Amino acid sequence: MKINKRLQTIGDLVPLSSYPLDIGCDHALLSIYLVKEKGITKAIASDNKANPLKKAKENISFYQIKDKVKLIKAEGLDSYQEGVDTITISGMGGLNINIIIENNKKNLKHIETLILSPNNYSLAVKRKLTKLGYHISNESLVKENNIIYEILVFTKGRKYYSYKKLFLGPILMIKKDDITKEYYQRQLETKKSLLKVLPKSFSNKIRLTKKEIRYLEEVLNH
Ligand SMILES: C[S@@+](CC[C@H](N)C(=O)[O-])C[C@H]1O[C@@H](n2cnc3c(N)ncnc32)[C@H](O)[C@@H]1O
Repeated sequence: MKINKRLQTIGDLVPLSSYPLDIGCDHALLSIYLVKEKGITKAIASDNKANPLKKAKENISFYQIKDKVKLIKAEGLDSYQEGVDTITISGMGGLNINIIIENNKKNLKHIETLILSPNNYSLAVKRKLTKLGYHISNESLVKENNIIYEILVFTKGRKYYSYKKLFLGPILMIKKDDITKEYYQRQLETKKSLLKVLPKSFSNKIRLTKKEIRYLEEVLNH
């Protein structure tokens, strides 16, 4: 089946024996990929809007897997069903992902793995999940249409991270591949531009931005 590199990478990080729930499924292609190509026996795809679910229903019918992919119309984590142990959320802003998690965090009780791909504010997502008792077990970057997408895998179990590790990503910071370097280089440019326009009265933000620039330069020059 046809699926973009970003969704395929997320799908390939889903544990093979899991019962996954995709929140904000839109077309449901991720759940379809998991069942059709990865041998996952059952999956749930959920969205809070009717139009995406209509598209998802058509796709599930097209691939003839109605018995394996359940569609649910619900707000965020309200779509949790007993037995689900893995959650994927992608293609949304990091703050929206955090709201979804915060609003119904009791439903995380049986969730072993979350694979989250925020379009922005990934540091806020990392902070939220580590506070909730998860650690970062994998980090991956995918470049598509000149956009670099970050994919974070959180696994149950607490770990302490320094600000530097959380900001750079504990796994990304030891990768030396071209995409990671480009990702850090882009962040460095953004931080340097931000520093130029920050008003003097924003002293805390200036201090933090300078610290982040130093971390990025260190990891890039190491
Ligand atoms: C841009 S699409 C991303 C689709 C897919 N996950 C991907 O990565 O390509 C975002 C989807 O999330 C849904 N969505 C946004 N906020 C949501 C929420 N709070 N609960 C459930 N679905 C939500 C939207 O309706 C939309 O279909």
